[in-house]
Amino acid sequence: MSRTFEVAPGDAVHPGDPVIVDRYTTGARINHWITAASLVLLALSGLALFHPRLFFLTSLFGGGSTTRMIHPWIGVVLFFSFLGLFFRFWKLNLWKREDGTWMARLRDVLTAHDEKLPEVGKYNAGQKLVFWLMSVLIIVLIASGLVIWQEYFAQYTTVEQKRIAVLVHAIAAIVIICVWIVHVYAAIWVRGTISAMTRGKVTGGWAWRHHRRWLKELVTGKT
Ligand code: HEM
Repeated sequence: MSRTFEVAPGDAVHPGDPVIVDRYTTGARINHWITAASLVLLALSGLALFHPRLFFLTSLFGGGSTTRMIHPWIGVVLFFSFLGLFFRFWKLNLWKREDGTWMARLRDVLTAHDEKLPEVGKYNAGQKLVFWLMSVLIIVLIASGLVIWQEYFAQYTTVEQKRIAVLVHAIAAIVIICVWIVHVYAAIWVRGTISAMTRGKVTGGWAWRHHRRWLKELVTGKT
């Protein structure tokens, strides 16, 4: 079957009752959960260093100095792990004309008036927005993080540049935690979505309801 625009390698439909649709390969799922675990650990270790009231969180990582030592390394894991996700998913997250329509009808999305929405490909506009926000924020976090990684890079920047980097790092961290909350909330709120990332499969009904254009292309092989 020739590749269509909305279909990723590994996506496939299995007829039956219910119809089952493969949405993520094992590799993609392992990649996703390494990314997810590293962001959670980064948030916990970062918050521990962010405010004295949250210092107790350092006990999760074996104390203050190990937290400070381990946090940037988890950041490096997140960066490369997300890079893997980025190369897997960027193409299907490119913005299309109908994504603007979907966004403009967000009220219908939230009230589940799906019939008023344009047919959605593999990802809807909300997922695409989350994807690009995560991509930009992770670049900002790694870049500002390297500037303030005293152990290896202290000599390359001035104190003023480090002060700005600390501020940028903290703001980007707060924003990405909010974006992460939206991502997890949406994954739970849209019933049947979690199995896409746990078992790699969704039902045909889920795909028909939420990602109809993806399903149609998958079945017909045509865009
Ligand atoms: C820890 C809690 C998390 C949960 C429960 C979760 C759940 C999910 C689920 C169910 C999907 C599949 C959605 C679909 O195919 O329609 C998904 C996709 C995805 N997740 Fe997560 N996720 C979590 C954390 C993260 C983190 C921390 C990141 C990145 C920093 C991330 C990045 C992605 C990306 C890039 C996709 C593919 C969707 C797209 O490209 O737009 N996830 N996640």
